[in-house]
Amino acid sequence: MPVVAVVGLQWGDEGKGKVIDLFAEAADTVVRHGGGANAGHTLRVGDETFVVHLLPSGVLHPQTECVLAQGMVLDLGVLLEEVDLLESRGIAVLPRLFISEKAHVVLPHHKAIDAAREAQFAAIGTTKRGIGPAYEDKVGRRGVRVEDCAQRPLLAERLERNLRGWEAEALQLGVPLPSVGELTEALRLVWERLAPRVVATDRRLWDQIETGRKILLEGAQGALLDIDDGTYPYVTSSHVSAAAACAYAGLPAQCLDRVVGVTKAYCTRVGEGPFPTELDASASASLRALGGEFGATTGRPRRCGWLDLETLRTTCRRNGIDALVVTKLDVLDTLDRIGVKRAQDASAERLVQHQGWNCPTHHLRTFADLPEQAATFLRMIESDAATPLMLTSVGPERHSNIGETDCFKGLPTGGYRRPRYTFGG
Ligand code: IMP
Repeated sequence: MPVVAVVGLQWGDEGKGKVIDLFAEAADTVVRHGGGANAGHTLRVGDETFVVHLLPSGVLHPQTECVLAQGMVLDLGVLLEEVDLLESRGIAVLPRLFISEKAHVVLPHHKAIDAAREAQFAAIGTTKRGIGPAYEDKVGRRGVRVEDCAQRPLLAERLERNLRGWEAEALQLGVPLPSVGELTEALRLVWERLAPRVVATDRRLWDQIETGRKILLEGAQGALLDIDDGTYPYVTSSHVSAAAACAYAGLPAQCLDRVVGVTKAYCTRVGEGPFPTELDASASASLRALGGEFGATTGRPRRCGWLDLETLRTTCRRNGIDALVVTKLDVLDTLDRIGVKRAQDASAERLVQHQGWNCPTHHLRTFADLPEQAATFLRMIESDAATPLMLTSVGPERHSNIGETDCFKGLPTGGYRRPRYTFGG
């Protein structure tokens, strides 16, 4: 203890990368626990911009341990590329990277099948990173786990079985499958470098919890993309809730001391699926230009719309959010009117137009300095979501913020939050 989970409250792209990077200043360990290279987190430090897909967004802090936990699906080639890119920019990554032996491996045909399905059925608008097929293999009990790479004969057997499972669909989609030999060779090359970093990350985290290290669980995607809670079937293939963070990181359910939820001051979505507060094409394009709303993983233009406080309230309840972070407030600085869908009992009018503040907020560092309309806007979010506001981000840089930046502040440093059962007590 203490353990803090950060959860995206929309359709991903809420700015979690920046928030995790900021919170990681005070963390000992940052854990990515679900999804894979479908995530894309942009980190801006000084004049430099970094984009990470698999590595935790705390990786820029040299003291931080980075864990890729068992719930992830890992494209090991992409992981090494990311490590090499950061190391070429002077950031030592490998010595503090810990990869779960139970995480699943994304194989080249997972990506090919994901892309072919998208091209032929235009189904979900996935990131084509092979995430869906890799999770399908996991639950189909024909997946390849990281630990399998250590045992050559077993790996060949697992790959054989895996490929057999895809034969029919690959034929139907016209996707050529690789041979076991090709896959083994590709995995051997990356394995040589990654093998020393593979450990029982769950046990490592249990030890850290018991010794009072500060652990940050980094959520990827967002609540509305959750496989169960999201806008099914237009969702990702994993759970993204705070509760799932425990399961995917291999941690006990009662370990969470705090859950922080991140929402943008407006809303975006990439890919297909319902979006009740979506703007029309031209208004969406204007907001996209103001917010630089293009996917960090695929470069796709994001669909833009207004903040939906009714849904935000539900996602806060579902995830037990203790504190809210609102990002990209400054993007709205020049708008005369800002649409907001109010929570059900907050207003008779569902979609209201909030008066804009028409002045820059990027340089502001205290709530008291905010223009009145911006302060009212934030108070409205807090009240409709029924969750206290902790931090507001007013720019992409690490320290362009208003509010509390230490997510561990005030938390107990030892033991579990709930008292344990005592026999007869
Ligand atoms: P997949 O996760 O690549 O299978 O994509 C499924 C859906 O989730 C698509 O609509 C993607 O655009 C969306 N998605 C997956 N990861 C992210 C993310 O990190 N940010 C935003 N959308 C995402």
